[in-house]
Amino acid sequence: MTESRPLTTTDSGIPVPSDEFSQSVGADGPLLLQDHYLIQKLAHFDRERVPERVVHAKGGGAYGTLEITEDVSQFTKADVFRRGKRTELFLRFSTVAGELGFADTARDPRGFAVKLYTEEGNYDIVGNNTPIFFIRDPQKFPDFIHSQKRRADNHLHDNNMQWDFWTLSPESAHQVTLLMSDRGTPYSWRHMNGYGSHTFLWYNAAREKFWVKYHFKTDQGIRNFTGTEAAAAGAEDPDFHIRDLHEAIGKGDHPTWTLQVQVMPFEDAADYRFNPFDLTKVWPHEDYPPLDIGTLTLNRNPENYFAEVEQAAFEPSNLVPGVGASPDKMLQGRLFSYPDTHRYRIGANYLQLPVNRPKNAVHSYNRDGSMRYNNPGDPVYAPNSFAGPVADPLLLAGEHYEVTGEIVRSAHRLHAEDDDFGQARALWEKVMTDTDRDHLVANIVAHASAPEVRTETKERVVDYWRSVHKNLGDRVSRGLGVTGQ
Ligand code: NDP
Ligand code: HEM
Repeated sequence: MTESRPLTTTDSGIPVPSDEFSQSVGADGPLLLQDHYLIQKLAHFDRERVPERVVHAKGGGAYGTLEITEDVSQFTKADVFRRGKRTELFLRFSTVAGELGFADTARDPRGFAVKLYTEEGNYDIVGNNTPIFFIRDPQKFPDFIHSQKRRADNHLHDNNMQWDFWTLSPESAHQVTLLMSDRGTPYSWRHMNGYGSHTFLWYNAAREKFWVKYHFKTDQGIRNFTGTEAAAAGAEDPDFHIRDLHEAIGKGDHPTWTLQVQVMPFEDAADYRFNPFDLTKVWPHEDYPPLDIGTLTLNRNPENYFAEVEQAAFEPSNLVPGVGASPDKMLQGRLFSYPDTHRYRIGANYLQLPVNRPKNAVHSYNRDGSMRYNNPGDPVYAPNSFAGPVADPLLLAGEHYEVTGEIVRSAHRLHAEDDDFGQARALWEKVMTDTDRDHLVANIVAHASAPEVRTETKERVVDYWRSVHKNLGDRVSRGLGVTGQ
């Protein structure tokens, strides 16, 4: 051993007598319970894993900055969006359905979760690489995810289950069109866009309100695998995307995204042609042109995957003054779900971990709990007469708006042009190239041709795509060899 190497210790700092040998009764005899070095090592090993995320388990991330270049103070008073402001951030990319260790290149949406360490607390934009989603009510989220995960009996993924759910949930058509296109298999995380997807509330210092959507547009350009290339890349290297990002940042090739916003005046929402709170819809650019407002750059790799990436905890409920939630039902469901799962997965004090804790001072009255090390002192309650922290209602003034109505369980109110297929049709008709269309058809046919997909499901698959566009449905019909119902 060289002089400069430190001594091995237990986690209590006690020097360890051997890195190799357990204590035994004679060289060939049984081991002793008094060997607490061994006991601590094995017992800790037995507890090395926290549960993986129930969705988005496989991923990678990096640190960076968001720099705002335009003045949007007429829309929001959020300090993080002040012109010239630079804010440190952590961004985690992920696949959705696969477990830790699953192939990065699998056909799936990709998570694009941004944690902004603002001076007014952490602001998390927990989005995907798609501007929309499969469903519009959180009631269906666990069912949707179950259909993407594994069967109960044989623990296998099952394409019949997926098409069964999608064709019985026609609101999925827009997102499934994107998923089955080559955007479902991005070449790398650097070469895809991120979207906040939901509509959020912005309010300015004068308490005027707006609705906003976020788009992070890749400056590397969109680059996708074909289905065949993605399968080959995943077979060769299941960690293709983690490696790509880590190597690029490691050699100083720092990826950037242009942050765009679409801003809708508050009053427009009532009779906009699409329900602006329906997560299966975009706002067409011609209605609300995207405005460039800044640049997101990734420039630093994490040093410890478990501490910084596996234990990163994003929550759509982390909103800062100047930003609020919208009535999007999916967003409302997510406001509950993320902090709830973090308390289960990581523990009640997950916000004290370095990757999760805010950079500004915390003055909360929350205290104690497992593994808490930074605790409030007295006074431990509010209100108090001992100079404890006090809330300022004016900071969030502006996020309020009036809502009235009967308590119901119902679908969204339909606006003039709302349906399940129109925007998917626009994508097929107006946006896709002939090559995009050919690949979309080929990917659908390959996916729905899996041996487990039943004939009656295939018939519904043809009808589903005919509802998007007759030509698309006819081509899927020919590829699957069924006519539709
Ligand atoms: P536009 O022609 O103004 O915009 C279409 C947008 O589609 C582009 O700006 C690009 O956005 C995205 N796009 C381009 N090629 C593809 C592709 N092969 N697959 C998926 N998306 C692509 O039209 P609209 O705003 O009227 O939207 C028409 C359709 O485009 C929508 O129904 C939706 O399906 C799709 N779309 C619209 C977006 C929006 O926010 N309005 C965003 C993304 C898709 P980007 O660079 O952001 O990918
Ligand atoms: C992760 C729930 C919809 C993006 C998660 C996790 C849960 C969850 C429980 C695991 C979090 C963790 O353990 O850290 C839900 C529910 C939804 C929903 C209940 C709908 C009601 C969405 C939508 C998007 C999205 C619409 C994108 C627009 C993500 C991302 C992650 C994630 C990016 C991974 C975050 C990370 O990198 O740690 N979701 N989700 N989810 N979800 Fe959702």
